Amino acid sequence: MQSLKLKIAEKISALYPDAALDAQKLCELFDATPDLKLGDFTLACFKLAKVLRNSPQRIADFLKSELEGGLDALERIESVNGYLNFFVSDAYKLNFVKAMDSLGADYGKNTDGEGKTMCIDYSSPNIAKPFHIGHLGTTVIGNSIKRLFQFSGYNCVGINHLGDWGTQFGKLIVAYKLWGDKEKIKTDGINELARIYKLFYDKALEDPTLDEKALEEFSKMEKGDEENLAIWKWFKEISLDGKFMNVYKLLGIEFESYAGESFYIDKTDAVVKELEEKGLLEESDGAMIVRLDDYNMPPCIVLKKDGSTIYATRDIAAALYRKQTYDFDECIYVTDAGQSLHFKQVFKVLGLMGREWNDKLVHVPYGKISINGQKLATRTGNVVLLEDLFRDATDRVRRIIEEKNPDRENKDEVARSVGIGAVIFNQLSASRIKDVNFVWEDALNFDGNTGPYAQYTYARSCSVLEKAGDCKEVSAVALNDDEKELIGILSKFPQKVRAARLDYEPSTVTRYILELCQCFNRFYHNCPILKADDATKAVRVMLCRVTKNVLGNALWIIGLERPEKI
Ligand code: ARG
Repeated sequence: MQSLKLKIAEKISALYPDAALDAQKLCELFDATPDLKLGDFTLACFKLAKVLRNSPQRIADFLKSELEGGLDALERIESVNGYLNFFVSDAYKLNFVKAMDSLGADYGKNTDGEGKTMCIDYSSPNIAKPFHIGHLGTTVIGNSIKRLFQFSGYNCVGINHLGDWGTQFGKLIVAYKLWGDKEKIKTDGINELARIYKLFYDKALEDPTLDEKALEEFSKMEKGDEENLAIWKWFKEISLDGKFMNVYKLLGIEFESYAGESFYIDKTDAVVKELEEKGLLEESDGAMIVRLDDYNMPPCIVLKKDGSTIYATRDIAAALYRKQTYDFDECIYVTDAGQSLHFKQVFKVLGLMGREWNDKLVHVPYGKISINGQKLATRTGNVVLLEDLFRDATDRVRRIIEEKNPDRENKDEVARSVGIGAVIFNQLSASRIKDVNFVWEDALNFDGNTGPYAQYTYARSCSVLEKAGDCKEVSAVALNDDEKELIGILSKFPQKVRAARLDYEPSTVTRYILELCQCFNRFYHNCPILKADDATKAVRVMLCRVTKNVLGNALWIIGLERPEKI
């Protein structure tokens, strides 16, 4: 409807040459109506009262008399209490749907990103620790943002900035040397690593020298100690192969790069050198820092007392490397909001180093997660492991299928994609910045506005299409309210994906999915499709086809699988 709105806006602006109204901007003043009885869209004329120096009611009356009859696409215009309500003709709407239909699965895509590269740093777990729901947010939000950009033609580089370096490895090495059992680690993998890691924490509470030892071991690693590096490498492989890759596989997520923190250890010297040369580095208590007082921030530590690098040092090196390697137009970092200051500092330091592109670095934060109202903590054991969550979700769906549809084929596959889809959908339902209180029962609730409901609706649209077979050409028919409403919602898809991308906000798509599913299901229940007369059937089948394409793309964007049969 955008092009129709623009045409109307151009006519309005031509009616008031002195006011020099910008047609594009005028277009944005049109609102959706709360009810189709009030038209398809409306213009609240009080928004123009000031510039046109007239009352809303008079403006509305004048515009109605001038515009009515002037555009074939409009059936009529009503002027009510200063509102101008536009009723679009059925013929125009039908042509509009035909145009969506002819684009097939390309409907909603755009070319905003042509020739542009986006780096998306997401998931990036600390691999010495288990993969838990604290990382579900960054993993599924990041994946969805990546898909939103891909949908607009961007070249996307998904980067898993693995936390595979740092003092936590010093701790693990101390734990291993003191209490580790090679064979046990070989058989139990990451679980055994997690156990000795926790043991380290418990013991360090009583014996603070353990922390010093951990720092020493880490410092040895940084200086190239072969024994420690060999242990580190072994632990890294166990963690990645054991749990992480499996979770990504279940989620259907792939990264273009797994260059984690350790990838930058030979690139931090250059950072330190440049900071020194530019006079940005200062000593403070034996550490080397960049002061950020002028920007109301605490200093950014670059080297610790013992000369080892920290998280921030490696992030500065990483940004430089990514710019050089990918020449990105934008590089975003998806982490919880607790890291906002860290990224502000890193981006500022890069600016001080003369990298003007630092305004193309964007931190995309999301809310904190708690479990049943309690802070998530690996140490106390208040965690939910992603693998357990996915397994449980899958088992539940599997039980439901056994009960309702025991003869279904591919039971395992459907159970997996619906179970995991429920968890993803739940995470992406609320705005990303909202804190999430994880309640096991809610995440696995399949009733109401959930992932399974959306996937089920998708399968329903597929099944109608399969049964419908070939239809007649679509010809002019009168549309009923359910059809009109569905068309209205389908027509919003391109705006919704654009808005979601610009705000880095997958929940905009999730909410849209629910709106579309509710509307489609209403249409499905109220309007016979297969039994309708040929002309009506052709239109309704076309609506099912566009719904299938739109819903299919929307589900893909939020990272859900799309089984055609459930
Ligand atoms: N490993 C970090 C964590 O688990 C997240 C890393 C985010 N990316 C980055 N470039 N700093 O909190």
